Amino acid sequence: MVDSAEANAAIWKSEATVADWVATAGSREHGRTRAREVLAELLPFADDEAFTFVDLGAGTGAASRAVLDSYPQSSGILADYSPQMREEGRRALAGYAGRYRYVELDLGTGRWPDELDGGLQAVISSLCVHHLPDLRKAALFGEILGRLAPGGWFLDYDPVAAEDPTVAEAWQRVQDRRDPQAASGRSQRSPEEQARWENHVRHISPLGPQLQFLRDAGFEAVDTYWKELDHVIFGGRRPA
Ligand SMILES: C[S@@+](CC[C@H](N)C(=O)[O-])C[C@H]1O[C@@H](n2cnc3c(N)ncnc32)[C@H](O)[C@@H]1O
Repeated sequence: MVDSAEANAAIWKSEATVADWVATAGSREHGRTRAREVLAELLPFADDEAFTFVDLGAGTGAASRAVLDSYPQSSGILADYSPQMREEGRRALAGYAGRYRYVELDLGTGRWPDELDGGLQAVISSLCVHHLPDLRKAALFGEILGRLAPGGWFLDYDPVAAEDPTVAEAWQRVQDRRDPQAASGRSQRSPEEQARWENHVRHISPLGPQLQFLRDAGFEAVDTYWKELDHVIFGGRRPA
């Protein structure tokens, strides 16, 4: 039996899936503009400050680009375990040469590259942590805290699950109004699309416990800093 980590890796390391994901990214990104901006705004740096951030599960760098655009002196270390996503990212980031580099990191393992061992000024993540089981999310938040410099922030933009089915219905109702095509597409998924959907939702979990994971790891200033329906930006700071 294929476990969920293997299924997730098979999807993100598939040439065909990544090609499709990149081809359809434009329409998805359209609705994410504000979230991308808010995540960048939350970083505690002056507009002209030079700093380095780490983007976990960076993919083709959508979150990183928002930060790089907002802070022209910033640099990013983009961590992802998919060679296909890193390759696509190099194309998407062609205009940012010299301001970013990719590192290979499997967030499922707890084994980090030496260069991310400590003193990190800020860590961001976007649309990736939801792929990890809750036990791993909790451990990851501890690993991030241990690698941040004192006072360093971690901010995550991700979908969360509703604990109340009526809330889930309300979220779905709004999403379907906004994208009626997606609503009809749900009943017509190909087996491959269904596998990707199941992989997407498998480990999405409620927000409350994830905020508690951050507190338990030792973060302060833990909050949900932005929210729209099932998508949130949450995070906190390593105590100074
Ligand atoms: C939905 S994409 C999001 C990419 C990007 N952060 C964004 O906001 O567009 C998820 C990314 O997480 C990466 N990913 C998933 N599981 C991972 C893991 N265990 N370790 C490292 N990267 C992972 C995938 O390769 C993919 O690039």
